[in-house]
Amino acid sequence: MKQAQRLKSVRYDIRGPVLRRAQELEAAGHRILKLNLGNPAPWGLNTPDPIMADVVQNLGVAQGYSDARGIYSARVAVAQYYQSRGVTEVQPDDVMLGNGVSELIVMTLQALLDTGDEVLVPSPDYPLWTAAVTLCSGRAVHYRCDESAGWLPDLEHIEAQITPNTRALVIINPNNPTGAVYSKDVLLGMLDLARRHGLLVLADEIYDKIIFDDAVHHTAAALAPDVPVISMGGLSKTYRAAGFRSGWLAMSGFTARDAEYVDGLQLLANMRLCPNVPAQHAVQTALGGYQSIERLIEPGGRLHEQRTRSWKAITSIPGVECVLPDGALYLFARLDPAVHKIRDDEQLIIDLLDQQHLLLSHGSGFNLDTPDHIRLVFLAPMEVLDDAIGRLGTFLSTYRQ
Ligand SMILES: Cc1ncc(COP(=O)(O)O)c(C=O)c1O
Repeated sequence: MKQAQRLKSVRYDIRGPVLRRAQELEAAGHRILKLNLGNPAPWGLNTPDPIMADVVQNLGVAQGYSDARGIYSARVAVAQYYQSRGVTEVQPDDVMLGNGVSELIVMTLQALLDTGDEVLVPSPDYPLWTAAVTLCSGRAVHYRCDESAGWLPDLEHIEAQITPNTRALVIINPNNPTGAVYSKDVLLGMLDLARRHGLLVLADEIYDKIIFDDAVHHTAAALAPDVPVISMGGLSKTYRAAGFRSGWLAMSGFTARDAEYVDGLQLLANMRLCPNVPAQHAVQTALGGYQSIERLIEPGGRLHEQRTRSWKAITSIPGVECVLPDGALYLFARLDPAVHKIRDDEQLIIDLLDQQHLLLSHGSGFNLDTPDHIRLVFLAPMEVLDDAIGRLGTFLSTYRQ
């Protein structure tokens, strides 16, 4: 059967040929060590008990559809969360729940874009952003994040790419794949560009509580109350509940002029009836209660240790460099082209898979335009990470393309 023309230019390479090869190897009986997914549960990073209890307690009243925007108690909790982060005007009616941030990314773009409209997306990015812009008939225009400056977005490059067709600016902070946490100055600069050029800001802040050492996360919407911002977050990472498929968005800085867009978003929410209802009951407890993530990210905590020690291990491989991530769950390492002459990074990942049964992700899958980066997820316990990085070192010591 013929595939829709619309999908022909949608790329989602991190789940493409590499994953197919991994599945073939598994089908042939091999055990693959997979450090390619930001999915906490398989590594014993479980959803906190009070969150589980809330979902179980409420299953009986979660049988029917809910309000298309989500249940009221969850929307209040999300509104209060952003108020506490300085987005003081957000009200429950400005909040919408979704089946993960993923669904909300697609909905916010579907409601916005006409054919040929442009969206500024970081390079590298979480590739769903680029894929979703393309799926919605838009054009993703990538702006540079500068590795030599800790992967901070390059404001001049962003501005140089703005055209009359530009509709929105995507900010992923903390960033996947780089782990960068943006300074207040950089965020103010990005928000000012949006203000001056009339752009909607789409702020993907799903890792806003996964922050290490002295890094500080600034909620973009709090820095520009006058700019239309859609802030997004969810339960998948901080609350280790990726399988619940539960996320939210909060709109701030919107005026009467934006009402048509908001109506469009509501139409899309209505068309999918509502998000998964049992998981919505987790939101209030998650946001309001004890924040168990703090134990994991403080020095000595499991995520902090895994991030620091795996970074030390990977950067001790000859010709491998990596900006120490200040947030999120990933090492985005550079293979020095003077040492490792890689032309095709997807092939490198497939060869690593074949030779070492280790699954990582290639940098160009994150819309980076050079073939010299790989991403490793540091969710696994340290002994697993040590094993994986050992295999990577062995592989790279002889690998040639
Ligand atoms: C930056 C970013 N945004 C959104 C998502 C999707 O999250 P969800 O599970 O809420 O759909 C991810 C998942 O890895 C992510 O890294």
